[in-house]
Amino acid sequence: MLIKSKPDILPSEITPESVFHDRRRFLASSLSAAFGVAAAGLPGLSGAAAGDGLRARAPEDLARSAPAQWWNAKFENISPAAHEGGFYTAEALTPYRDVISYNNFYEFGMDKGDPIANSKQFKVDPWSVSIEGEVEKPGVYTLEDILKPHDLEERIYRLRCVERWSMVIPWVGFSLADLIKRFQPTSKAKYVEFLTLFDPSSMAGQRARFTTIDWPYREALRMDEAMNPLTLLAVGVYGNFLPPQNGAPIRLVVPWKYGFKSIKSIVKIRFREQEPATSWNMLAPQEYGFYANVNPDVHHPRWRQDMETRLPQTLLSSSRIPTQLFNGYAEQVASLYKGMDLTKNY
Ligand code: MTE
Repeated sequence: MLIKSKPDILPSEITPESVFHDRRRFLASSLSAAFGVAAAGLPGLSGAAAGDGLRARAPEDLARSAPAQWWNAKFENISPAAHEGGFYTAEALTPYRDVISYNNFYEFGMDKGDPIANSKQFKVDPWSVSIEGEVEKPGVYTLEDILKPHDLEERIYRLRCVERWSMVIPWVGFSLADLIKRFQPTSKAKYVEFLTLFDPSSMAGQRARFTTIDWPYREALRMDEAMNPLTLLAVGVYGNFLPPQNGAPIRLVVPWKYGFKSIKSIVKIRFREQEPATSWNMLAPQEYGFYANVNPDVHHPRWRQDMETRLPQTLLSSSRIPTQLFNGYAEQVASLYKGMDLTKNY
């Protein structure tokens, strides 16, 4: 984000896509292309986006990254997105192939195509998450322990990057609030901090000679932001496992904030009394604030924020649309920032 000087997406970087309107046909065809199988339905894909009675199967590379039986069983039963509370938007979904091939995941390289190219050998099984800090039940929990009590649901969210591109993505996961309640934060816990895996042997970006980020990648939320029902821990996308480049096996999705808050491949969740340092803020505090709420009136020094490019860009239209305050989730989250000066707390 900091280093890329090219602010906008070149049409050639994204495959043109013209099949938005017939979602059912589009989903079936794009999944069968992506998975190499007859796409036979999407457990849990809701409403207009759902297939009827068809079931998608994980492609080989995804099956390898999440092979456990218990994990497969979890994905048998995904509840559709509730149509109220901001959990669903009827906007056209960004095609699967764009969601999994146009990524920011600096641990695997700086360019948008690097994460898919460089994460093929990334192992996410076994995986554990350490729960630390101001919490009654600290410990190192296996991914199975983390996920076991939670039912998975689909959420269709807008994702807005500070670089001015945006997508609409059907995630699979559960509310972070439900996980937080299980581990019982103490009254001192005012913030939740998240850390990504640090493993230079499998993450090429972490062993690069010139790297701007002080690894591991870290992010944080205020406790009330973390407890907002919109804040999602995602373990899947498009009714299936998360591919490594999208943050397997477990990542955060905070839809009203710029994408850099949505930290991938989480291995630590720490409850803190003080505001934690966060990766992009440490790197360039004048450019990236702690809050990072999507705001069309507060501009990044190099990128105006009042418009965005909804991906994929087509050859016929630039897909430029106005950006909404809190990325369109003001009804759900504006009250969290009442009385705060959003130009100072950017
Ligand atoms: N998490 C980690 N660990 N490393 C990263 O480089 N990039 C962030 C965020 N999470 C990033 C990360 C940025 S800048 C964005 S826009 C989103 O992931 C992109 O998510 P996506 O690739 O699934 O679209």
